[in-house]
Amino acid sequence: MNFIHKKLILFKNVVYNYFKNTCFYAIFLIKPLKKKAWSRRDYTTSHYHKGEDYHNRFESLPGRKIIWNIEKRILNKFLLNQKDLDFLDFAGGTGRISNFLQDKCKKKYLIDSSEKMIEHAKKTLSNFTFINQNFNNIENLDDKFDLITAFRFFPNAEPHLRDDAMRFISKHLKSNGYLIFNNHKNFWSLPLFIKRLTFRNDGFGMTHNEVKLLTKKHNLKILDFYSCGLIFESEKGLLMPWKVISILENFFHKYLYKSKLGFNIIYLIKKDD
Ligand SMILES: C[S@@+](CC[C@H](N)C(=O)[O-])C[C@H]1O[C@@H](n2cnc3c(N)ncnc32)[C@H](O)[C@@H]1O
Repeated sequence: MNFIHKKLILFKNVVYNYFKNTCFYAIFLIKPLKKKAWSRRDYTTSHYHKGEDYHNRFESLPGRKIIWNIEKRILNKFLLNQKDLDFLDFAGGTGRISNFLQDKCKKKYLIDSSEKMIEHAKKTLSNFTFINQNFNNIENLDDKFDLITAFRFFPNAEPHLRDDAMRFISKHLKSNGYLIFNNHKNFWSLPLFIKRLTFRNDGFGMTHNEVKLLTKKHNLKILDFYSCGLIFESEKGLLMPWKVISILENFFHKYLYKSKLGFNIIYLIKKDD
């Protein structure tokens, strides 16, 4: 009885969440909707309660791990032969990107508004300057950088925060410096499009065009981009054949990385002088 009761509650929650989170007319959308979470909590404070748990998900969630492994290869391609960089990990969180790039860097900064995220970053990063602040409140940072990264930030941030962030980044990029950031909610990607067609999506995302306009507005230009995540946006699922999905994602990435069909696009950006 107890078992059946628990299963019924689980079923009720699944149904409730499906109706709560699904936008049924998303199939007709020609541009992304606002993220529902923005009305409950601003993005700046969204990770105040996250830290180690966030970090571990890049290992424990099979779908996320597959994409993170491809992201590392793309970072290596973009930064081949680069060294002694003055580096800023913008909204760097637990230091996932910093950790991977730190050997290529000389001066190393990480900015994040969440104390808990930074606390975890401090456990693995050495010789970093950590700035635990909302970037909009930072007044005394005069440094400029050869490389700024901003991962899993832009699509999640409210439009005004995206705009402020790009202004801040552009201001702190050296004239020959690079910005590398990702849009992991690529609205016109195959996986998100299929989700909208099959009533499994909230209509949220960010388009390539929005990225182009945002960068252009702040005197930046897109030099290159690679896309990945062409078949599957979900990150977990006990019955999913993750080995097969990994082989397929790597195969499609190899041949279709310029297609913009992946839900995750990694951009290489420079100042437009
Ligand atoms: C999804 S996490 C990404 C962390 C890391 N870049 C990564 O890819 O693993 C987004 C981070 O942005 C930070 N953030 C959001 N708004 C911010 C703001 N206004 N100033 C500084 N950090 C901010 C959050 O605290 C969070 O740690």
